Amino acid sequence: MVRALAEWRSEAELSAFPYASVVDAYQLVGKHFVDRELLACLAELRDTLATLPGDPTDQELLTGFLDTALDKWDERYDYQTYLALGLLLGPANASDPSDQRAAQRRRDRLTVQLVADILQFELDAEAGKTERLPLMRPDARIVSKRCRLGLRAARPALTRLGLEDPAAAPTPDRSGVAEQAAELCRTVRLDTRPDEQLRLELSMLPAYTIHDEYLFIRVLQCFESTFALLAEHLTAAVRGLTEGQPVVAAGRLDAASAGLREAAPLFSLLATMRIEAFRDFRCYTEGASAIQSRSYKIVEALCRTPDPERLDSAAFHNVPEVRDRVLAGLPTLDGALRTAEADDRLTPEGRETLAQAMEGFSTTFVQWRQTHYRLAARMLGEERSGTGYTEGVPYLRDARSIPVFR
Ligand code: HEM
Repeated sequence: MVRALAEWRSEAELSAFPYASVVDAYQLVGKHFVDRELLACLAELRDTLATLPGDPTDQELLTGFLDTALDKWDERYDYQTYLALGLLLGPANASDPSDQRAAQRRRDRLTVQLVADILQFELDAEAGKTERLPLMRPDARIVSKRCRLGLRAARPALTRLGLEDPAAAPTPDRSGVAEQAAELCRTVRLDTRPDEQLRLELSMLPAYTIHDEYLFIRVLQCFESTFALLAEHLTAAVRGLTEGQPVVAAGRLDAASAGLREAAPLFSLLATMRIEAFRDFRCYTEGASAIQSRSYKIVEALCRTPDPERLDSAAFHNVPEVRDRVLAGLPTLDGALRTAEADDRLTPEGRETLAQAMEGFSTTFVQWRQTHYRLAARMLGEERSGTGYTEGVPYLRDARSIPVFR
């Protein structure tokens, strides 16, 4: 591998960087155990990257890849780099993220690509066609269940993208489910652009080599894409309300609720992860916790300003850039509503429509917390701590009851 890099450096053509070989080297042993000679070589390359000739897009991609590949080497491993969030093209990368359709489309494309990739890995592993993450392969029953749940999770986005006939009946038996999953993978692959495919491949650098970590990473990436979409919806809702358009605000809140509800089957998919597999690979993910999810905390803080004790707890100290935005006065839906009421700008109908939408979003968000808590408690045990330096499951138990709006 080091030789391949040295050969590439003699030409130093950015677009010809041997990504596939580097990713293979990582996936063979897991990010935690990558050969230090290779890491030193990559770190040295990073130092000279800015001087290399090439397209700015290629430059940006390699910079992003090295950011995630060298996180453990630099001792700055965290949730963003574990999931390679900077490499994936989500709603915030839409040509105009404030354009509802554009942001939704980016989220849909990424969701179907991530789910199809999970299923392809499961099918390949079952057929003995891949040596990636070889430890603790699941049995046929689990693979079949993952195919069924993956199909269910991808269906709404697939339909919106025009990649599946909404009237197509789900196939109930086991072999039919595997065939449908393989068909989904083919359809999505044909629709995926080469640059999207490359980014997908670069965004899978597991900490270890246990099969189920693949599913774990991809499901987290799917949820992150949904949270990013929610953040766009809520930002637009605050703007709508501030500009005297409560119905627009309610529409965006309803879209946010629908987006979060639609992501719920991903929890069922993740629940097929074996507890012992999770407990084994999480030894190497210490330091990367979803408590560091910026999009999740932005969503929370766009609903209402967090109470001082929450803002001064691990919840927000783990996302300093979001905390800074809150302290700088991030506008919230709660705040916009109070201002509109104080200025007597809401008609009874407008207020009612908005109240229903807020109620709907609040219920969906609390439901998300509840499902997440149950899954975490099952995987970790009631009192086990998390990887984000909180007391773990008890932290989540308490966070369930934090009001979404005032
Ligand atoms: C095996 C499954 C999971 C387990 C065991 C788990 C466990 C935990 C734990 C213990 C925490 C508390 C922070 C810490 O100490 O690390 C946490 C926080 C969090 N998790 Fe998970 N989690 C799981 C799956 C997920 C998934 C799929 C998502 C979707 C992105 C997610 C999103 C979050 C978020 C956003 C927080 C921060 C919540 C807050 O600060 O209020 N988790 N998780």
